[in-house]
Amino acid sequence: MRGAGRGVRGAGRGMRHAKSRAIWAAILAPWIPHPAPRTPAPRTPHPDMIDVLYWRREFPILDTCTYLVSHSLGAMPRRTADYLRDYADTWSTRGVRAWHEGWWEIGRETGNLLAPILGVKPNTISMHQNVTVAQAIIASCFRYDAPRRKIVMTDLEFPSNHYLFEGFRRYGAEIVYVPSPDAVRIDLERLIDAIDERTVLVPLSLVLFKSAFITDVRAVIEKAHRVGAHVSVDAYQAAGTVPMALDSCNADFAVGGSVKWLCGGPGAGYLYVRPDLAATLQPGFIGWAAHEAPFAFATGPARLAGNPERFQSGTPNVPALYAARAGYEIVGQIGVEAIRRRSVALTRRLIETAQAAGFRLNTPLADHERGGSVIVDVPDGEAVADELLRRNVIIDYRPGAGIRMAPHFYNTEDEIDHAMRVLVDIVQSRNPKKNEAVERAP
Ligand SMILES: Cc1ncc(COP(=O)(O)O)c(C=O)c1O
Repeated sequence: MRGAGRGVRGAGRGMRHAKSRAIWAAILAPWIPHPAPRTPAPRTPHPDMIDVLYWRREFPILDTCTYLVSHSLGAMPRRTADYLRDYADTWSTRGVRAWHEGWWEIGRETGNLLAPILGVKPNTISMHQNVTVAQAIIASCFRYDAPRRKIVMTDLEFPSNHYLFEGFRRYGAEIVYVPSPDAVRIDLERLIDAIDERTVLVPLSLVLFKSAFITDVRAVIEKAHRVGAHVSVDAYQAAGTVPMALDSCNADFAVGGSVKWLCGGPGAGYLYVRPDLAATLQPGFIGWAAHEAPFAFATGPARLAGNPERFQSGTPNVPALYAARAGYEIVGQIGVEAIRRRSVALTRRLIETAQAAGFRLNTPLADHERGGSVIVDVPDGEAVADELLRRNVIIDYRPGAGIRMAPHFYNTEDEIDHAMRVLVDIVQSRNPKKNEAVERAP
């Protein structure tokens, strides 16, 4: 990186600000992966329909197993390999010049690809290693030694959020957990009541990782704003499968990553900050990329850039951002509305089959309350999940929840039926005389 800094030093100072976006686009074009898809366009017999067979060809792993785990790791698009090759070619042929031929701007460009998926304006998203880092940057914008120092969360948040904010107790933060009534839903009324004039931040998942319950973030944001608190929406389990309008919800922050429904792979976490709020914040956890003139290498306090660079740390994770692009393009091309329609149809099919088999479901049954996953709770769930994996049905298991199954736009009805047939067979063969799952059914 030191080499990179030396190489761009002369040209870099003020470059980001001096050149217009149009000039930048022309400069970047040869060096950043081309936005046009490299495979022929899909057949779309009707705008509402997804050409599933076409898209399946774009995801090689689908030929090898029943892949129902996109809530954990979305399948890799074929063109991801092309983009990673572009990255390697650029590095090997352009060397340090790559920084000012596109790499330095790649975070902003990547965030702009994500913006329509999150339903936010362009130039409001910065890219980071993961949610934990993005959330830490948000947390570093606030003080915890004043009367307003409460962080309100539900007990169903992803553990990283608990761990991170627990760490802020040492700075004076008070953590309030709002318990779920059933480990599936949040208690919205109780959450809203817990937010008061002493609340600084409410980290809140739009879709819960354990149950796929969809939270009414708009209601929480309204209450938070009435009392001067901020809400950080964790959009990870929603982005790419549940349409979002975070801008019109007035969300203060949003965080997430690309590993799951976005099929973008690891290392491409994102942080959205509401544009009018961004200018008022002074994040404490920043690095040289947050400075308004990073290539001046000024020491001492930073003069912060505008949104989104203001929230940057150091060198961007360039290969991860090349890789992430393929998934965003595909999700963007199909459209999250169309993905959602298919997701609802496939999750409903899964639920109906599970109900017919008498399995308990730790997932909301109403379509409008459920994200992209279905959590099936069978006796000895962990061992059953292991057997499903052995039989090439790729799912995962979460303690206290059950077997998580997640159809995405590339899955077929036949795959759902096959996975459920295998699941029923495993459960019955483990306990042929007395099928506990059936007995426990509501
Ligand atoms: C809702 C949610 N938030 C956060 C994470 C993980 O965040 P990180 O990017 O820090 O690994 C997950 C991962 O499973 C998640 O489901």
